[in-house]
Amino acid sequence: MKIRKAVIPVAGLGTRFLPASKAIPKEMLTIVDRPTIQYIVEEVVASGIEQVILITSEGKAAIENHFDYNFHLDKILIEKKKTKLAEEMRHISNLIDIVSVRQKKPLGLGHAIWMARHVVGNEPFLVLLGDDLVLSEQPCCKQMINLYREVQESIVAIQQVPLDQTYQYGIVEGRKVRDRVIKVDRMVEKPAPGTTRSDMAIIGRYILQPDIFNILETTTPGHGGEIQLTDALLALSNKRGMYAYQFDGTRFDAGDKIGYLKAVIAFALRHPDICVDFSDYLKDVAGQL
Ligand code: G1P
Repeated sequence: MKIRKAVIPVAGLGTRFLPASKAIPKEMLTIVDRPTIQYIVEEVVASGIEQVILITSEGKAAIENHFDYNFHLDKILIEKKKTKLAEEMRHISNLIDIVSVRQKKPLGLGHAIWMARHVVGNEPFLVLLGDDLVLSEQPCCKQMINLYREVQESIVAIQQVPLDQTYQYGIVEGRKVRDRVIKVDRMVEKPAPGTTRSDMAIIGRYILQPDIFNILETTTPGHGGEIQLTDALLALSNKRGMYAYQFDGTRFDAGDKIGYLKAVIAFALRHPDICVDFSDYLKDVAGQL
């Protein structure tokens, strides 16, 4: 079955980014000239998805407004003869069909995904976490959709991380079936140091079979007292199998201060308007260190 829908949970408080995220959703923090959430939605669009389902919470209206049509702004830009900019703004509002669902209580990532059940229905779907930005030739989601066409089972994107950092991630254990593809045996959310020998960390891209919703319905709180998606994934993997995919590309944790700054630099060095000047500036700065 074709993957048509992408769920993007954006309900999190963003405590790692306070005070910047106190009055502005962390997903609206800018990377060069657009908010991080726009990169995520653009990845979805470039992967051929038809609908985005945002899981939101109080204080996240700016995200919905960003993808809406702003009549007032459009009128002013046209009056000022800023046609190109007006077109760019209209393009953002026409990117893709977006539906929002409120997560009323912060019960965890698993619960956030469960909130999408009525809109997703009985079909496989994508999940993208807003903190994880991936720079790659072919969009990470598209790479996963290509693999899905072949294996027809759930897939989690993974990357290798240093063993002393595995406690920060969902970790996959399994056996390699071919280049970049692993059959999942076990998964654990944020394992205590020394409790796994695997260095394969889940990053925020998943293709899930809709069976996940029934599993989430009865998943009890796990790590941190929250309903964890990883716990439900393990049950789904035991039920019908799951693959982990080592995607081709560079992932940035834009929800973390250093990761965010690295993302700003990487995206600025690829931005046609500023890449040359910015690269010269960086060389100057490096020379002064
Ligand atoms: C979430 C997931 C975790 C995954 C991580 C990737 O954790 O629960 O399994 O490895 O995203 O960014 P969070 O970073 O939201 O704590």
